[in-house]
Amino acid sequence: MPLVPMRQILDEAAKGGYGVGAFNVNNMEQIQAIMQAASETQSPVIIQASRGALKYSKMIYLRNLIQAAVEDNPGIPIAMHLDHGNSVETVKQAIALGFTSVMIDGSLGEDGKTPNTYAANVAVTKEVVALAHPLGISVEAEIGVLGGIEDGHGAGLAAGSTEHLTDPEQAEEFYKQTGVDALAVAVGTSHGAYKSGRRDPVTGQVLPPALAMERIEEIHRRLPNCHMVMHGSSSVPQELVDIINQYGGKMPGTFGIPVEQIQRGIKHGVRKINVDTDIRLAMTGAVRKLFAEKPDKFDMRDWMTPARAAAAEVVKARMQQFGAAGHAGDYAPMTLDDMKKVYGFAR
Ligand code: G3H
Ligand code: 13P
Ligand code: ZN
Repeated sequence: MPLVPMRQILDEAAKGGYGVGAFNVNNMEQIQAIMQAASETQSPVIIQASRGALKYSKMIYLRNLIQAAVEDNPGIPIAMHLDHGNSVETVKQAIALGFTSVMIDGSLGEDGKTPNTYAANVAVTKEVVALAHPLGISVEAEIGVLGGIEDGHGAGLAAGSTEHLTDPEQAEEFYKQTGVDALAVAVGTSHGAYKSGRRDPVTGQVLPPALAMERIEEIHRRLPNCHMVMHGSSSVPQELVDIINQYGGKMPGTFGIPVEQIQRGIKHGVRKINVDTDIRLAMTGAVRKLFAEKPDKFDMRDWMTPARAAAAEVVKARMQQFGAAGHAGDYAPMTLDDMKKVYGFAR
């Protein structure tokens, strides 16, 4: 099957009451790991490329690698999504290359750091919807701002900051004004491996991140058909961090989002769950272990092979936990032309 519009994948997930993982990729091995997991669990999947990824690998390389994944896995619905598009220009480039879904992150300015005004967010999001929907391409936008400055973007808010969490009333207004297909909400998650930002004042121990899951429930009450997106949803498993630290890494005080919290979100309208850090941790641990145990190795395939296998394992677990496993064959895939009709733009 060809690439599928993300909107269909999310509509079907809503019907089935499950969530779909959106996994970040930068190279061939990550794409292969995700597809191995999707194929073994028979899960629909969203493969996404951030601006950082596009800079690292160049859009056209990633596009063609994802296209190879599509040809290699004809039975799996795959959406190719631009993650955290910062401007209309970036979105246009992704559309020209054949992405079936784009995110315009108008919650921040084009620098990817400064929080935007509500009006500016609405304006740029509407511009992207006007550009994408006539082509059958899905649009994700964001209301509220995530914490964390890892990965070179984000507003630089301290993880755990509640200042820019999504206001459900504003989310409702934004969703209705813009007509987006998926809405990223800020409920206390942040990008990267250090999501807590809180320590026990007495013991100094890192505490779990404070999440405002009740905001998701409130948005779902107001907008039962809105597909919500949780960014910063890596669970940062301690066992993966332990492998890194055991083999020479230094990652103290990490904390992720407990899977049960994501599952609670899925019960209340979260349909797309963004995961990048868990894949990074799995691959880094596997590479460190290989080099520590076999210091004579220098063939890239010797270290990429266990890294790819470790990534596949963590992705597989998430597909099962989000409930997407077994749903790949539930529906006939739509083309972008079919999707145009849904949006009201017949060919
Ligand atoms: O959106 C967050 C992802 O972790 C992407 O990170 O910008 O370093 O590729 P990146
Ligand atoms: P993590 O850093 O938690 O994996 O989040 C990734 C993300 O939100 C990509 O958009
Ligand atoms: Zn994100």
